[in-house]
Amino acid sequence: MTKAESYSDLDPTPRLLMGPGPVDVYPQVLQAMSKPMLGQFDPQFTAYMNDVMQMYRSVFRTENEWTLLVNGTARAGIEACLTSIIQPGDKVLVPRFGRFGHLMVEISQRSRAEVVAIDVPWGEVFESQQLRDAIHRHQPKVVACVHGDTSTTMAQPLDELGAICREEDIFLYVDATATVGGNPFEMDEWKIDAVSSGLQKCLSGPPGTSPISFNDRVTEVLLSRKHIEGGIRPEKFVEASGPIIQSNYFDLPMLMDYWSPKRLNHHTESTPMLYAARECARVVLREGIETGIVRHRLTSKALRAGLVAMGLELFGNPDRRMTSVTGVLIPDSIGDSEKVRSELLLDFGIEIGTSFGPLHGKIWRIGTMGYVCQKANILRCLTSFEAVLRRNGFSSSANTGVDAAYQVYDENEHD
Ligand SMILES: Cc1ncc(COP(=O)(O)O)c(C=O)c1O
Repeated sequence: MTKAESYSDLDPTPRLLMGPGPVDVYPQVLQAMSKPMLGQFDPQFTAYMNDVMQMYRSVFRTENEWTLLVNGTARAGIEACLTSIIQPGDKVLVPRFGRFGHLMVEISQRSRAEVVAIDVPWGEVFESQQLRDAIHRHQPKVVACVHGDTSTTMAQPLDELGAICREEDIFLYVDATATVGGNPFEMDEWKIDAVSSGLQKCLSGPPGTSPISFNDRVTEVLLSRKHIEGGIRPEKFVEASGPIIQSNYFDLPMLMDYWSPKRLNHHTESTPMLYAARECARVVLREGIETGIVRHRLTSKALRAGLVAMGLELFGNPDRRMTSVTGVLIPDSIGDSEKVRSELLLDFGIEIGTSFGPLHGKIWRIGTMGYVCQKANILRCLTSFEAVLRRNGFSSSANTGVDAAYQVYDENEHD
């Protein structure tokens, strides 16, 4: 057995996290997480829960009453939405343009859906007409779509999909983990029925809780499946007639009772994550959603200009890129792409992302999300990246990247 004294103090080296998430956490959020614990029915605690509901309505741009947190990482929110909405045998259509489309398929199948996936090559997204045709052809009950897929860095335009789903009287669920807070996202205007997100991308919090929201159409389905676990079930409660939701943890009707004035106990809400979610939203709303999006756009524009000036090629359809993650093709002259990432991390303290599936070994992914999305970080990243690339055999003239990024800032910053 290892002696307790031999474990070192927990003292992680600060990094600049410029991968596809997690990213550096706002200092205010870290501070909020260390505030005193409260009991879950303490009026202060329930007031913070209510604040969170109200604040995330603004973040998601919705009037939905049911806007709350699911404890767990972003996929907890995805799973809670899908497993509660999908009834066994329902047909679910997944437009798949990256890794997280595969996750939609996987979770829908585990929810006993009949799943139909349609695909475009990674680096592309769907045209509205393709989605309309697929909906007409397959007649699904639910469309489950990722907004921005970090695996490819692409964002699917959603401004027409919700209207198409409404015309057909079917549901639209969206995974907005990577986009909310740094890319335009309009839940009500785009007629999205249910959405989930995570803190560790543009909201710049730690992973571990998932803000979600759903509208009255979804609420009707959920209440038709309402069940309350034994031991807390009120005496006169009558079970709904719809099929019981398979998961207890992700049972949204039970979560609704916990987050409503009934405060009917479900899990024990994670106190530091509630504080974190509240502080993330406060920071984002204080900056202003629009201002934050403009900052993300400008920062990625400067980064991309720098990368291109260095002679690198960017990945994917230029009109469909997220504002928050950039894919860079690994040049042929680089023998070992992981060595580049490792030198950037260990010599300069900067983390950038590798990639999955068909893109493995083909692109690096650089995130410019939330707190990280700042001029100083872009200039530091470009300077360091250039130095490491040159050491590893890529030829580019010194400072071309940083000069090009400076130029973007000079042209766009007005005091
Ligand atoms: C678009 C998208 N969806 C879902 C997830 C899953 O998030 P988590 O790892 O927090 O469960 C991620 C994480 O990278 C993501 O980018």
